[in-house]
Formats: sequence, structure tokens, C-alpha cells
Amino acid sequence: MACRRRGVVSLTAAAVILALLLLMSPSPTLSFSKYETPDQCSWSADNETGSGRMSVLCRVRTLDGEGTNLSALQVEGTTRLRVGCSQVLLFESSLPPQAFHRLSQLEELIIEDCKILQLPPESFTGLRDLKRLSINTYNSEWGSGKSLELAPNSLYGLKELQILDLADNNIRAFPEDVFCSLGNLQTLNLTRNRIRDASNLGYASKQPAYETSSIPRDECTGGLDVRALDVSWNQLQILRGDSGITRLRQLRNYNICIYNITNWPRFPGMPYPASLPSGYLI
Ligand SMILES: *[C@@H]1O[C@H](CO)[C@@H](O)[C@H](O)[C@H]1NC(C)=O
Ligand SMILES: *[C@@H]1O[C@H](CO)[C@@H](O)[C@H](O)[C@H]1NC(C)=O
Ligand SMILES: *[C@@H]1O[C@H](CO)[C@@H](O)[C@H](O)[C@H]1NC(C)=O
Ligand SMILES: *[C@@H]1O[C@H](CO)[C@@H](O)[C@H](O)[C@H]1NC(C)=O
Repeated sequence: MACRRRGVVSLTAAAVILALLLLMSPSPTLSFSKYETPDQCSWSADNETGSGRMSVLCRVRTLDGEGTNLSALQVEGTTRLRVGCSQVLLFESSLPPQAFHRLSQLEELIIEDCKILQLPPESFTGLRDLKRLSINTYNSEWGSGKSLELAPNSLYGLKELQILDLADNNIRAFPEDVFCSLGNLQTLNLTRNRIRDASNLGYASKQPAYETSSIPRDECTGGLDVRALDVSWNQLQILRGDSGITRLRQLRNYNICIYNITNWPRFPGMPYPASLPSGYLI
């Protein structure tokens, strides 16, 4: 009898353990209801049930303003984040140091209408899975002198980044080799900025006239596999054959508005303007 009794006991024990396990394992509904955001933010779940992936939208006055509390965003499940600053109030927003570094699950980050003047060093470290980054300040609405400036290592750490959209930032120049750490970059959108000279596009020319760059040329491999480049609506005047962007090895789709082309560079595999595949010139 002892045997049978023990059997009954262990069956009951198993049922209890099973019930406990079921209670403890987070069901999709449970994890949904646990997802919380600061007051300025709203979220929606990814349409795949139970994936636990959230798109979060935060509306703030400025990025660093009073009551803005992006540091309260939940790490777990936050895969897409769009932060929009006030379109009416033209106040400077500064990116708090490592503002987003906790959000290690982010795959997409969009910052819109925030009047940012500087991207400090390592602005996005920690975002190891980030695939898309958009920063569109519309700084020119604030003033023609309000340009966004990037520190040379501001984009450091974004190893998975595929799409970088820096349109509408009133940018005048990129530091040389700023894209070096972006080993997976495929689309670079620099449209509607104020770049006048192709040597300010972040790509050093093949034979630099001077050796001031801190990064040895052969260590700068990131950013060279860009397939789509949009530099339309800048103020580019000349694109010389030794321009750094001629080092782009995979360029297929480009939109380069240039006034007064003096010498169309020979891109590897890129035809002359007469038969441009999908880019165009103005
Ligand atoms: C999820 O959303 C994507 C794009 O919004 C859509 O193409 C897809 O059909 C949706 N899937 C389901 C299961 O609703
Ligand atoms: C921001 O959120 C954190 C974490 O929830 C909290 O500790 C902190 O007090 C909040 N700060 C403000 C200014 O609301
Ligand atoms: C670049 O951004 C502009 C403005 O958002 C958009 O119209 C354009 O299609 C983008 N270009 C590429 C190559 O994605
Ligand atoms: C292009 O060159 C012509 C002749 O050199 C000059 O008159 C014109 O202003 C230039 N256009 C621009 C946009 O620089």
C-alpha cells in the first residue's frame, strides 16, 4: 500500500508543480499587461501575438526637459521607439549622455523635431541590435545657423545599424570617418542638409592630402558598403574623381543633386550620368 500511496502523493505533487509552473511562466497576456511606459508615451504591441515586442511613441517638449523621463522606459520588450519633440516650441534639446544605452533591445530609434545641435561621443552605445536610426531635427525651421554637429565617435557601437537617416538636420559637414564603426550600414540618407563639399560627407578620399585622422585608413571599413545614398537637396557644387564617396563599393541606388559637375567620378560599376540606373542629378 505504501507504494500506491506514494504514487498518489507524487502524482499530486506533480500536479502542484505543474500548476505552479503554469502560473509562473508569463503568458502573452500577462507580459502585455505588465508593459508600462512613462506618461508621455504610448505603446502598441507588435502584431505577432505573444512576441512581447513593443513599439513605443513618446511625445515630449524637449528631450531633456522637465518631466521628460525617457530613463523610465522599460527595457524588456522595447524594440521600436519614436520620440517626437514639440513642433511648436523651438527650444534646444540636448541628448542626455547615453540617453538610450539601457534600451539594449531597441531595433529602431526615431528622434523627430527635437532641436539638437550636437551628437556627443558615443551617443548610442549599448544599442547593439539597433538596425535603423533616424534623427530629423528640422533645425533650419529654428534658424539657418542652427546646424547639427556630430562628434567623430558619436555613432560608435552601432554594429548592426543598416539604415541611417540624418535628413533635415541643417548639417554642414560630417567629421571624417564618422561612419567607420558602422560595419553593416546599407542606406545613408543625408538629404536636405547644407553640405557644400563632397569632402565633408564623412568619407575620406582615397589618398588623404594630410594624415590627421585618428583612425588609420585600413581600419576604417564601416560605411563603405552603403548601397543607397541620398544627398539630394544639399548644396554640393562639385564632385571630384578623388572624392571619398567613390570608395563606396556597393552603391546601386543614389540620389545626388549636384550643381555644376566638373568631373563625374568613375565609381566602380557606376555608369556616367547619361545612363544613371536609379539615381538622378539636378
Ligand atoms: C503584421 O504587420 C505587417 C506589416 O504591418 C503585415 O504585413 C502582416 O500581415 C501583419 N501580420 C498579421 C498576422 O497581422
Ligand atoms: C524617472 O523615472 C525613474 C524610474 O522610474 C524614477 O526613479 C525617477 O524619479 C523619474 N524622474 C522624474 C524626473 O520623473
Ligand atoms: C531619404 O529621406 C527622404 C525624406 O524622408 C525620403 O523622401 C527619401 O526617399 C529617402 N531616401 C532614401 C534613399 O531612402
Ligand atoms: C554654375 O556655373 C555657372 C558658370 O560657371 C555659374 O554661372 C552658375 O552660377 C553656377 N551655378 C551654381 C549653382 O553654382
